[in-house]
Amino acid sequence: MKNIKFLLLLFCAIQFLVVAPAIAGGDAVRGKRVFNKCKACHSIKAGKHKIGASLAGVINRKAGTAKGFKRYKGLKGADWTWDEATLDEYLTNPKKFVKSRNKRKSAMILKLKKKRDRDDVIAYLKSFK
Ligand code: HEC
Repeated sequence: MKNIKFLLLLFCAIQFLVVAPAIAGGDAVRGKRVFNKCKACHSIKAGKHKIGASLAGVINRKAGTAKGFKRYKGLKGADWTWDEATLDEYLTNPKKFVKSRNKRKSAMILKLKKKRDRDDVIAYLKSFK
């Protein structure tokens, strides 16, 4: 009986170790649903631009440099690269972020106020390299 309890405990501990990092890094599956808010303006297909640039490979890409996208406003001449930290700040409030960093007016106004939404949509974007 004692052994079974121990095994059960061990099993739970392993589950925790495997599942916890996935949660901490954002949930890409849930992020796909959050991305529905972005779809009107962004595609995740490489080279397919809408009102906003394609977001395929946006992680580690310099801001404002998607190939073939000519409608940058606030991000024109940007000097930062998109990573988790910059995306998190940008998606919280694009207008404020772009104004403070680039002294320009952002053409994107949608805000993701919930941290969980931002984490998850970033995890989703990360799955398209
Ligand atoms: C109403 C249209 C619209 C919506 C909705 C929208 N965006 Fe944008 N997005 C834009 C435009 C336009 C730009 C270019 C901004 C600029 O240059 O000022 C942009 C730029 C970006 C960039 C920078 C791209 C690059 O090449 O540097 C990222 C990242 C981004 N959007 C992510 C998102 C995410 C994630 C969502 C959903 C949560 C979203 N956007 C929703 C219009 C939109």
